Amino acid sequence: MKELALNGGPKAIAGALPTFRNASGRSLGAEEIEQLTEVINSGSLSFLSGEKTKEFERNFAELFGAKQAVSVSSGTAALHTAVTYLNPEPGDEIIVTPITDMGSIIPVLAQLAIPVFVDVDPETQNMDPAKLEAAITPRTKAIIVTHIYGNPADMDAIMAVAKRHNLFVIEDCAQAHLATYKGHLCGTLGHLGCFSFQQSKHMTTGDGGMVIANEDERFGRELRQCSDKGWPRSKGGRDHQFLAPNYHMTELQAAVGIAQLRKLEGMVEARRQSAFYLSELLTGSGANPTKILPDTKGTFFFYTFRVDPSKLTVPTSDFVKALVAEGIDCFLGYPGRIPIYRYPVVKDALTFGTSGFPFTLPNARKGEDYSQPICPVAEKACVETVCIWWNERFGREHVEQIGSAIRKVMDAYRA
Ligand SMILES: Cc1ncc(COP(=O)(O)O)c(C=O)c1O
Repeated sequence: MKELALNGGPKAIAGALPTFRNASGRSLGAEEIEQLTEVINSGSLSFLSGEKTKEFERNFAELFGAKQAVSVSSGTAALHTAVTYLNPEPGDEIIVTPITDMGSIIPVLAQLAIPVFVDVDPETQNMDPAKLEAAITPRTKAIIVTHIYGNPADMDAIMAVAKRHNLFVIEDCAQAHLATYKGHLCGTLGHLGCFSFQQSKHMTTGDGGMVIANEDERFGRELRQCSDKGWPRSKGGRDHQFLAPNYHMTELQAAVGIAQLRKLEGMVEARRQSAFYLSELLTGSGANPTKILPDTKGTFFFYTFRVDPSKLTVPTSDFVKALVAEGIDCFLGYPGRIPIYRYPVVKDALTFGTSGFPFTLPNARKGEDYSQPICPVAEKACVETVCIWWNERFGREHVEQIGSAIRKVMDAYRA
């Protein structure tokens, strides 16, 4: 048996793998520079006077076949724009998943709505539609569905429940650019689709985000106003019709976005092909990749797998430490070793001063103790799932090194 790098043996991955953290793992180059140069030469860095933001939005809307695409400053801003658009009453409820980034929960709290956590399916780690209906109350306003790891959620089942209860569905596609469900792009299956272009995402503008929608008159709000101080600029003149932040994307971000969008399909396909190769290499190893539903296209934001803890001689956390020592950029559990509701902002209601709003609002539902394992399937997933930062620049040789590193550690710790 080979000596583990953790114990002083040679690393299975000798060199550095491409990473999203620098140029080695990002497809940023002449095309982005050309777009950026145009912006600098134009002297307009703001959407108010520039053209790049408008062009980026047009291209994004066209790619997704959406009527509206509104560019914003982050994925969190995209989701906040979407929630602001739905205009919940304080104390209304928005159903969310416990396996997601805090960026899906912050907008709910910021609009004084209560996040209601529906546990995940053990195999896909996406919201379990079978548990959705029981979470709906007369105060439920919407559902935020995260397509976690780029893995499409079961949208037919979720949309059927949403339709029965007249609920709006926001798709959080921050990790799922160009993922598809039964041939339809994620982000177009619900009522609003939200994307992130943060450094690690399938395409990047450093930070940035987009909301797509086929706008709906029922709200009496214009989507764009929800990230633009409630200002109906299309009507001319100054007005501020409701409370909304300023989440504008800059022309510099949009310039990079235009170039990145043109490369998106290739970058996503590269992730998929290398991920499929790893799954092939891991067949029979005891590492079980997260299930992707049939007739869907997952886009591998992370490559995730689980190992039955009873088949290891060490805790899964030590197994992951050994993988890291071998040179794999990975960690245990998303969004950490606890589901998102166990972080202080939710668990201890650290929100607005010492008020505890929205949880303490007189008319809000009470009784949830977020320090408890309220979503047991998610709790288990967080301590068993190995998440590898996947990358568009992984070639076959990189994947082979990752595969051998995993097999080496599996062999060393096999019970
Ligand atoms: C699933 C999910 N939702 C929302 C966000 C928030 O996006 P951002 O970091 O761009 O605000 C992220 C980013 O990590 C994410 O992964």
